[in-house]
Amino acid sequence: MTPPAYVFPIVDSRSVFKPDIFKGKVLFCTGGGSGICRGMTEAMMRHGANAAIVGRKFDRLTQAARELSQATGQECLAAQADVRQPNALKDAVSKTIEKFGRIDYVICGAAGNFLAPISGLSENAFRTVLEIDTIGTYNTIKATIAHIRASKGSYIHVSATLHYNGTPYQAHVSAAKAAVDALSAVLAIEEGPHGVRSNVIAPGPIAGTEGADRLVPKGDVPAGPGYPSGRMGTIGDIENATVFLFSDAASYITGQVLPVDGGWSHLHTGFLPYPQAVIDPESVRHLIKPKL
Ligand code: HXC
Repeated sequence: MTPPAYVFPIVDSRSVFKPDIFKGKVLFCTGGGSGICRGMTEAMMRHGANAAIVGRKFDRLTQAARELSQATGQECLAAQADVRQPNALKDAVSKTIEKFGRIDYVICGAAGNFLAPISGLSENAFRTVLEIDTIGTYNTIKATIAHIRASKGSYIHVSATLHYNGTPYQAHVSAAKAAVDALSAVLAIEEGPHGVRSNVIAPGPIAGTEGADRLVPKGDVPAGPGYPSGRMGTIGDIENATVFLFSDAASYITGQVLPVDGGWSHLHTGFLPYPQAVIDPESVRHLIKPKL
């Protein structure tokens, strides 16, 4: 294959933003124990924030908190909670306030995902993803809004680009993420007068994440000649967008969805090899686990 004419550079936010812009601030991040949200948390901590990360798996969460602290020199609290449980989330918020005294930034990032056609998706499976992604976001907003009003803080919701078109086997996630985008817009409008901003980051396929590894057939993500970025996205790309959107440089940006996908969503209707997935479901059968 001919190498791309130009490959978008990979940038460290510290070469653009001052290292201490979030000093004295506190981040509350659901899904922060792994993947993209862990990276977003680390980026905020690298710029001086302390953080609470929320997740279901206690061991993974405590290990992540320890590693994040070691990597950044900031404090990180592991606050175990399932975002589907409003009371558990309220406890996580209370623990965060007890430890740090405030919350300035919230990342609503906890999400569930797997490939399944609507015809084979059980009611419980559909409901489960909506409960984690959409109701989990609502629960997180409810549990944190008083603190975010008090600090005149800001929300980032982690969505996706797959619902802009019909992505096969992603009905549950598409419905859930479309609702998250809508929730964020309403939050921005209602809470703007209280000094609160709310935006969405919509990552494209991000290399090396569990989500992408499970959903995207290896080697099938086009990143090369003819594609705008010349490479797949990295967690660092999402980290940079996070630092920007939470920073004062974004003080007039609210109610927006920022796709961070190297322009990919303008070219593709989904992450799967299209149109093969629809014409020939057998070509993606190996990705649909454990059921079809
Ligand atoms: C069909 C499935 C399934 C699968 C679960 N279910 N996995 N159905 N295919 N592969 C069904 C179950 O059978 C059950 O329905 C229902 O969903 C609930 O499943 P449980 O395992 O009981 O639920 P739970 O333990 O709460 O966990 C479910 C889950 C988890 C959170 C969805 O399986 C999961 O996917 N975790 C991955 C988290 C993750 O990777 N997050 C990052 C997402 S990335 P029945 O009818 O049997 O009771 C992202 C961005 C998208 O969202 C872009 C990426 C490229």
